[in-house]
Amino acid sequence: MSDAAATTEEGSDSILEVENLNTFYGKSHALFDVSLSIERGESVALVGRNGAGKTTTLRSIMGIQPPKSGAVRLHGEDIAGRSPDEVRRRGISWVPEGRRIFPDLTVRENLRVAAGSGDEEFEEVYRRFPRLDERRNQLGGTLSGGEQQMLAIARALLGPEMSLLMLDEPTEGLAPQIVDDVVDIVDRLNAEGVTMLIVEQNAQVALELADRVYVIETGHIEYEGTSAELRENRELMESYLGVQ
Ligand SMILES: Nc1ncnc2c1ncn2[C@@H]1O[C@H](COP(=O)(O)OP(=O)(O)OP(=O)(O)O)[C@@H](O)[C@H]1O
Ligand SMILES: [Mg+2]
Repeated sequence: MSDAAATTEEGSDSILEVENLNTFYGKSHALFDVSLSIERGESVALVGRNGAGKTTTLRSIMGIQPPKSGAVRLHGEDIAGRSPDEVRRRGISWVPEGRRIFPDLTVRENLRVAAGSGDEEFEEVYRRFPRLDERRNQLGGTLSGGEQQMLAIARALLGPEMSLLMLDEPTEGLAPQIVDDVVDIVDRLNAEGVTMLIVEQNAQVALELADRVYVIETGHIEYEGTSAELRENRELMESYLGVQ
């Protein structure tokens, strides 16, 4: 199924190639020639300060805020401008910023909405997330922040076969020990082979979870490197990420 574009580079197995995205909100230019790539099995982080364009990048990939120009190649095929539903059907799933679960639906009902079918798939979810198993009949809005994040991730794993999972600030607003729980879950998913693009403001979490990191600043990708390289580069950590 991969075409020439995806197989020309020796040894590479590209899942996603974002090339020169330019995205606008009305007249306001939010992304400037944003490019990034993700290979199968990789965990890639996109980090940057408030308003840098992280969420907009995910929204452009997902087709929610389509780019004015540029390409979003999934398995070598350009999907820029496709509807979010179609992008999901083709294999990109995302967990939005702020989780956005349904507060008045139970855990199980939230899962059912995401799956669009009966319960049969959920045993796998409950095995993976025992906390959700115990809370099947609890209303989404009464779950703790960490549990809501688990539900949001569980929901993203349901539905059509997935080749890329995008997480927008999975640890935002969580207490430190809950951050660790979420990091464990995301780490385990990656170890199981899930390819990921993680947006994080928490640079420590990003460096812990990701193989490679892109730094975005006012809509421009300013740096790309391995987590190990970035960790060594104190100047960059301080100037772009505010890490002391
Ligand atoms: N719906 C919108 N309408 C107009 N401008 C927007 C809209 N959403 C975002 N922007 C602007 O686009 C820029 C990038 O925002 P974006 O939400 O992508 O940043 P971010 O890196 O995700 O920030 P944060 O860490 O605060 O979530 C910002 O200047 C923001 O004000
Ligand atoms: Mg954001």
